[in-house]
Amino acid sequence: MEYETPLFFHVMEYAAQADRDVVDMVSGNPDWEPPEALRDGLREYADFDPDRFQYPPSAGLRELREEIAARRGVDVEQVVITNGAGEANYLAMARALERDRGREILLTDPVYSYYPGKTTMLGGTQSYVAADEEGQLDPADVRAAASEETAAIVANSPNNPTGAVYPEETIRELVAIAEEYDAILVSDEVYDHYDLSGRFTSALRFDSDHRIVTNAFSKSLAITGFRVGYAVFPPHLVENARSRHMLVNVAGSRPAQYAVLRALRETGPDYYERNRALLADRVETFTDALDAAGAEYTTPQGAFYVMARFDGYPGTLENVEKLVDEAGVAGMPGEAFGDSRRDWLRFALVTPRVEEAADRLASYFE
Ligand SMILES: Cc1ncc(COP(=O)(O)O)c(C=O)c1O
Repeated sequence: MEYETPLFFHVMEYAAQADRDVVDMVSGNPDWEPPEALRDGLREYADFDPDRFQYPPSAGLRELREEIAARRGVDVEQVVITNGAGEANYLAMARALERDRGREILLTDPVYSYYPGKTTMLGGTQSYVAADEEGQLDPADVRAAASEETAAIVANSPNNPTGAVYPEETIRELVAIAEEYDAILVSDEVYDHYDLSGRFTSALRFDSDHRIVTNAFSKSLAITGFRVGYAVFPPHLVENARSRHMLVNVAGSRPAQYAVLRALRETGPDYYERNRALLADRVETFTDALDAAGAEYTTPQGAFYVMARFDGYPGTLENVEKLVDEAGVAGMPGEAFGDSRRDWLRFALVTPRVEEAADRLASYFE
């Protein structure tokens, strides 16, 4: 549970070695095209002078930071370009613990499993607040769990693995709770472009010295391999985070940042709308099949995932392997996401074979 990677890789390997054709619904890699401007930016980069092949500024290309700052309505100095949302979360959590206002990181259950892993790595301790059946978080529960020991509250909306999108009121309250306890809200918004509910609220809406927003282009531009993300820090917290970023990485990848900048400048809203529509279609196809299979599930409001529970078929690793062998569909065991969803399975909808997988599940469980 502390490290998603081994379990994740284990399932991927198991599926790859299976004796039959398997639909991979394990990973969160988009299977659709990046924007054309991103490919243009990469091609253009190949012919630049060698000086553009050298270190970029550690905090990221100035123009990219300016573009992000303008879009997000923050000061450019608050923006640090990171190696994906993964590094952004690491910097944010490290910064919260560095303040020495407690060692505890409040997480949700179900949880995106890299958060507990990072907490352990940074010498913090985990506490969990249970989400409800729909994956929603009750701010009253978070307030009850918070204390002087709380260094950070880490929230993720749209959510991996539940698909929940938190309403504005929840985000407002999470910021308020962080302020009350002199803690930091870390708001991971990496799936913000995949809000199917229309009610996604960024924590940037609530100006505060107590919140750090993390994000990336990994999902929004379908480039998980590029490793370009960012964090927006309150002005008084940014300096140490920049130093940590520099000491760990020196800098990020310059060509990748350049290509992302071109993509941001030249890609219109239709690109994102198309991908959302594709995802919405897949949600419908897949949940129809879950209905046919008599499974319990919550229709995701955003992100890439559906959690499902099949009667008499708890989401253990053993059952995940059985499903690979007998149904030809690979998902993630619920135990990878905390205690509350041990009986559940998570399926990622980022494969063109969603319909096929849905049919296989429906006939297997019928
Ligand atoms: C909730 C969440 N945060 C962060 C990440 C990591 O993002 P990145 O690839 O940009 O580091 C993921 C990837 O799946 C994720 O699901």
